[in-house]
Amino acid sequence: MKKIVIAIDGFSSNGKSTMAKSLAKEIKYIYIDSGAMYRAVTLYCMEHGLFSGDTLDERRLHNEIDNVKVEFHLNKDTGTPDTHLNGENVESKIRSMEVSSKVSIVSAISFVRRAMVALQQEMGKAKGIVMDGRDIGTVVFPDAELKVFVTADAEIRARRRFDELRSKGDNKTTFDEVLENLKTRDYLDQTRAESPLVKADDAILLDNSYMTIDEQMQWLLQKFKQITTLNE
Ligand code: DC
Repeated sequence: MKKIVIAIDGFSSNGKSTMAKSLAKEIKYIYIDSGAMYRAVTLYCMEHGLFSGDTLDERRLHNEIDNVKVEFHLNKDTGTPDTHLNGENVESKIRSMEVSSKVSIVSAISFVRRAMVALQQEMGKAKGIVMDGRDIGTVVFPDAELKVFVTADAEIRARRRFDELRSKGDNKTTFDEVLENLKTRDYLDQTRAESPLVKADDAILLDNSYMTIDEQMQWLLQKFKQITTLNE
């Protein structure tokens, strides 16, 4: 069967990564979490003293961006790729609230986006890829055969993210902090000058506020089957 490119975009913490991951496993495609790449660059900035509070030394980052190597390596236990930053597995570190609160600053910078988009396009060259993010269907793969734009109620998304943080041992962050961070990121993602979050005209809208993961998977698999049958 001819392989295709699947672009899944949408707001923060709406379960699109879970969906994209499960779909990729099921159809034996490669899964790439593009947000993890912006998170890894953010972690680099934090660990190399490029942030002073919320102010980023953009000039230094510009000089150092070629030294920031982001790669994905398959984790045999989970069956999904882990994010590596300059050789270190940072999959867990990049999910912290501190990274979440600074990532919008880094992901708004045009030279960072250019570098990440080039890497993402390289990863998708051979097709057979499911990539999730904000600009995958609009900028990275405007010709993707299947595009989905996922949305869900902000409080429901915050609850899911809060539960995830608690399950990973974060007992400090409050629900209100998570909700606030999510609303701020929604706003910044939609209003930034560079590749703002917007639904591609040809993307299919999916509101998963009241859907189970299984229902979403069935929905997505059906769309995938429709498209691949058409493309045969
Ligand atoms: O999907 P996420 O929450 O892990 O993404 C982290 C941040 O990266 C998010 O605030 C928006 C940004 N991002 C982006 O600008 N473009 C992408 N393709 C993916 C994520």
